Amino acid sequence: MKYEVDQLGFYGRYGGAFIPELLHKNIAELQARYLDLINSQDFQRRFNRLLCDYVGRPSPLYFAKRLSEKYQTKIYLKREDLNHTGSHKINNTIGQILLAKHLGKTRIIAETGAGQHGVATATVAALAGLECVVYMGEKDIERQAPNVARMKMLGATVKPATSGSKTLKDATNEAIRDWINHPDDTYYIIGSVVGPHPYPDMVARFQSVISEEMMQQLAAQTGRDYPDRIIACIGGGSNAAGAYYHFLDNDKVELVSVEAGGLGIDSGHSAATSVLGTDGVIHASLTKLMQDEDGQIIEPYSISAGLDYPGIGPLHAHLISNGRTKVLTANDDEAIKAGYELTRLEGIIPALESAHALAALPKIKFKPDEITVVNLSGRGDKDLATYLKYLND
Ligand SMILES: Cc1ncc(COP(=O)(O)O)c(C=O)c1O
Repeated sequence: MKYEVDQLGFYGRYGGAFIPELLHKNIAELQARYLDLINSQDFQRRFNRLLCDYVGRPSPLYFAKRLSEKYQTKIYLKREDLNHTGSHKINNTIGQILLAKHLGKTRIIAETGAGQHGVATATVAALAGLECVVYMGEKDIERQAPNVARMKMLGATVKPATSGSKTLKDATNEAIRDWINHPDDTYYIIGSVVGPHPYPDMVARFQSVISEEMMQQLAAQTGRDYPDRIIACIGGGSNAAGAYYHFLDNDKVELVSVEAGGLGIDSGHSAATSVLGTDGVIHASLTKLMQDEDGQIIEPYSISAGLDYPGIGPLHAHLISNGRTKVLTANDDEAIKAGYELTRLEGIIPALESAHALAALPKIKFKPDEITVVNLSGRGDKDLATYLKYLND
């Protein structure tokens, strides 16, 4: 594959593992063993069984007739919102909990923004009978209350991150700090294609089930096993990586990534990393991130807690820099509008993150026979309070 990670964990000039000495043993063990482990027959059998019987995969590929009529083209939705726990995040946590068990770890930690990864981690920790601590920014704890309640019910401890913007980046800092203090018994389930090698590659592989199913479903429904275009939102980039994975080498498929513009790219309140970012190291990987001249992180902003991150995964930095993916931005108001549009046309309430992907639709010139797949990364139950503030607008 053209866009595969190299031995040192780089995609082109992005990636790597810029880690503190105390984590060297953990990361080196993962780097040495992850491919053999996850490719083993036993692992694949257990992973696929859980994806099927526990998560409910394959997730449907749904032809959105009324949405298609509106945009005068053919739009399909990959329904990750129908997965157990309500988003794509569970695909990855199932894979990583199997790995953690195999490595003999007894304690699980995670970071979360929208709470979807936290819920997915608390869920698999309960399934595996392991202790679980989830770090979450104080601001996100407030705006994603339903997911905080779910994590608690699942037996996880939710620890607030109170520094910086009190969002995802700060939660990730706390999780890394915890891991440094408990390197022996603890496994860190990272929730996106970010962090030190091998996490970005590992998470992309676990999420690649999305594009694998898409190929089979498109072949069955349209007679062709690839679409003309795939649209996905990007926080760290795991749902996009999974939706693109098996199409990366197929240049006939246009790959569109949608970032959160927040209040507008030039407003000072944005999370449009690829436009506002420059090369630097965040959370142990070299990538594009929002930083000032002194290398200090610029606090990101988005109405969507899952897209409120100042970096992007190194795979995406690479894909963007060599033009393989096209990036669009959607501002808060555009995402809210798109969320209502899908709800009223198709009866599906999307997560605010996924609403950003849908907000790309009015910005694209479609041909009538083109096939576009929008990766509907999650459901909007957690975002109802935010949506309802805009009910009559
Ligand atoms: C439903 C949903 N979609 C997308 C994202 C963004 O993450 P990623 O870019 O890793 O898919 C999140 C993050 O929490 C999410 O909850």
